[in-house]
Amino acid sequence: MPHAHEIVEKRAGLLGVLVVLVVSIGGLAEIVPLFFSAEVTEPAPGIEPYSALELEGRDIYVREGCYNCHSQMIRPFRAETERYGHYSLAGESVYDRPFQFGSKRTGPDLARVGGRYSDEWHRVHLLNPRDVVPESNMPGYPWLARNEINAERTGDKMRTLRTLGVPYSDEQIDGAAAAVEGKTEMEALIAYLQDLGTNMQGKR
Ligand code: HEC
Repeated sequence: MPHAHEIVEKRAGLLGVLVVLVVSIGGLAEIVPLFFSAEVTEPAPGIEPYSALELEGRDIYVREGCYNCHSQMIRPFRAETERYGHYSLAGESVYDRPFQFGSKRTGPDLARVGGRYSDEWHRVHLLNPRDVVPESNMPGYPWLARNEINAERTGDKMRTLRTLGVPYSDEQIDGAAAAVEGKTEMEALIAYLQDLGTNMQGKR
């Protein structure tokens, strides 16, 4: 009479099926409850949907690939919270589609950069980072100051986000074009940067 375990050990196919079964039970137990946890699905205190201008700025952040060098995810370790502020909460990203957590930190984490510098500092820094941080290896983005936002599409973007659950009002959507009309991509990006993490300011 062979040992019962031998049956599994001698049949790779059966072993594979059982491994998948066990791993999926573990996965389900960890992942499924998250869909029902308010901590993950509800906005954290102070989190508002992005304004029309901030939303356009966020799209430029994505287009320019800033996430390739900057994370927006502060981990709950002392070394991180001392430097950047309160660790990131899931509820801070509920209106971010897609979220910009990132994992590469050639530059510092930007999750709480809002309010750390003036708009003018950001403008000079984005034109040529070495003008304010001589040792910086961040590229300059001078074209952002020349390009204007395409105001025609902002309302549509907000309408699409509303179908995904972002609570934009009709007034916000109707006023979107006027809010970004004539603004440069630089102004939009700075508005976005200045909003990052302001909900958690002063919390450690
Ligand atoms: C090749 C990597 C790289 C890319 C791409 C990059 N950065 Fe940076 N960034 C850095 C480095 C390195 C620093 C630190 C030196 C400095 O301040 O310039 C930095 C600093 C910053 C800071 C100051 C952060 C602080 O807390 O002092 C901001 C804001 C910033 N970057 C925004 C951006 C934005 C917005 C983009 C996209 C348009 C971008 N970066 C793209 C590397 C990068």
